[in-house]
Amino acid sequence: KPIHILNGPNLNLLGKRQPEVYGHETLTDVEARCAALAADLGVELHFAQSNHEGAIVEMIHTARDAASAIVINPAAYTHTSVAILDALNAFEGPVIEVHISNVHKRESFRHHSYVSLRADGVIAGCGTEGYLLALRRVVSLLRAG
Ligand code: DQA
Repeated sequence: KPIHILNGPNLNLLGKRQPEVYGHETLTDVEARCAALAADLGVELHFAQSNHEGAIVEMIHTARDAASAIVINPAAYTHTSVAILDALNAFEGPVIEVHISNVHKRESFRHHSYVSLRADGVIAGCGTEGYLLALRRVVSLLRAG
C-alpha cells in the first residue's frame, strides 16, 4: 500500500508564503522530491493538501484502508485540532509529523501539538528536507514490521 503524505492549510502557498520562514520551494517541488525518493526506496506515494479540517479528517479515514503509513504536516491544525488527532488515533500504521519550520523557536502557541500525542516521530526545523527524512523513517518502520 502507498505511503500517504498529507498537508494542511496554507501549504498550497508554499514558496510564496513567508519564504523567510518556509523557504522558496513550492509544494509541487516537495512532491517531486518525495516521489523521486519513494522511487529509490521502492515505495508508492500519494501526496495531498487541503485547507479544510474536515477534508483532512476524511483523508485520514481513507488512509485507514488505503495507506501503509502517514506523513503529515497538519500546519496550523497541529495546534488546534482534536478532530485530526482522533482520526489519526483510528489509523493503525506508522505516523510521522513534519514541520518545515522549527515550531519550538517560534510563538508559544506553536509549541503544543495535538498530533504529537499520536505521532511515532516528529521532525521540525529541517526545512522541506523534513519530508524526505520522514519518508525514510516510515519506510524503516514498515520494514522493521
Ligand atoms: C508548520 C508550522 C505551523 O505552526 C504553521 O501553522 C504552518 C506550517 C510548518 O511546517 O512549519 O502552517 O506546520
